[in-house]
Amino acid sequence: MVRETHLSSDQLILPLFVVSGQGVTQPIDALPGQSRLSPDRAAEAAERAYGAGVPAVLLFGLADEKDEIASDAYREGAPGQQAIAAIKAAVPEMVVISDVCLCAFTDHGHCGVIVDGDVDNDASLELITRTAVSHAEAGVDLVAPSDMMDGRVAAIREGLDDHGFTGVGILSYAAKYASAFYGPFREAAGSAPGFGDRRGYQMDPANSREAQREIAQDVAEGADLIMVKPAGPYLDVIAAASEAVDVPVVAYQVSGEYGMLKAAAERGWLDERSAALETLTAIRRAGADLIITYYAQQVAGWLTEESS
Ligand code: PBG
Repeated sequence: MVRETHLSSDQLILPLFVVSGQGVTQPIDALPGQSRLSPDRAAEAAERAYGAGVPAVLLFGLADEKDEIASDAYREGAPGQQAIAAIKAAVPEMVVISDVCLCAFTDHGHCGVIVDGDVDNDASLELITRTAVSHAEAGVDLVAPSDMMDGRVAAIREGLDDHGFTGVGILSYAAKYASAFYGPFREAAGSAPGFGDRRGYQMDPANSREAQREIAQDVAEGADLIMVKPAGPYLDVIAAASEAVDVPVVAYQVSGEYGMLKAAAERGWLDERSAALETLTAIRRAGADLIITYYAQQVAGWLTEESS
């Protein structure tokens, strides 16, 4: 009765990794319990999640072939685009969000285009916008740009509107830190940078006020929801964001945060269920309205057990 924070499955978003093919379920070593799925299997997973009370998925389409200009990111009929359509056909009520980034599609693994040996912010915007439009054509509800290039929210908004997709929203990865906690994801998506690192475009973990500036900028450019990522080590940033903006604040409990809990639980060092629920409750307490977590399906099951 006096509890201040509530966690429920309708605040959760389940990430899914999509590869081409049919009937494919490839377990991901670095993310126990998660798999790369073909579009038909992704639609089944989305149906299961929706049935358990999880209203949204975040899709990561993977490349069939990588090149310098990330062609598979915006190719019609690429695995991610197919999965968007398959999920909307199987569970029309489900909110389908797609990650928009180039890093899983470029042969160098960076989130943008390389010009003279460096990631070029402005040259990247065109391809990022093209990717967002191709997801909209496949039927996505929200695009989630995760590249952290400056000006991408405005560019994507304009591109979507120009193509008649005024109803497709933008969930921007507004404050995305250059974090060591993305390790398992990069194995899952095969998106580790081939040279250098992402500190040129992602944020310094030591900075908090800068995050508020990035968030304010994305809201001004037209972001409908903003995200802080990672979640657990950045609760102060989530709290400040939820005070500062009037759009929904989303927090991403990333692959490394999930992996730490899984690994400790496997060794019997932590009780997985209580530890996972505690981390998610803390993220909500800090001020996140919604949480992206690899635990979404499992947590929805636990929450149903608790309430019955
Ligand atoms: C792509 C992207 C990354 C994650 C989400 N989108 C990786 C990165 O920036 O290297 C990480 C998610 C996770 O660790 O769960 N830019």
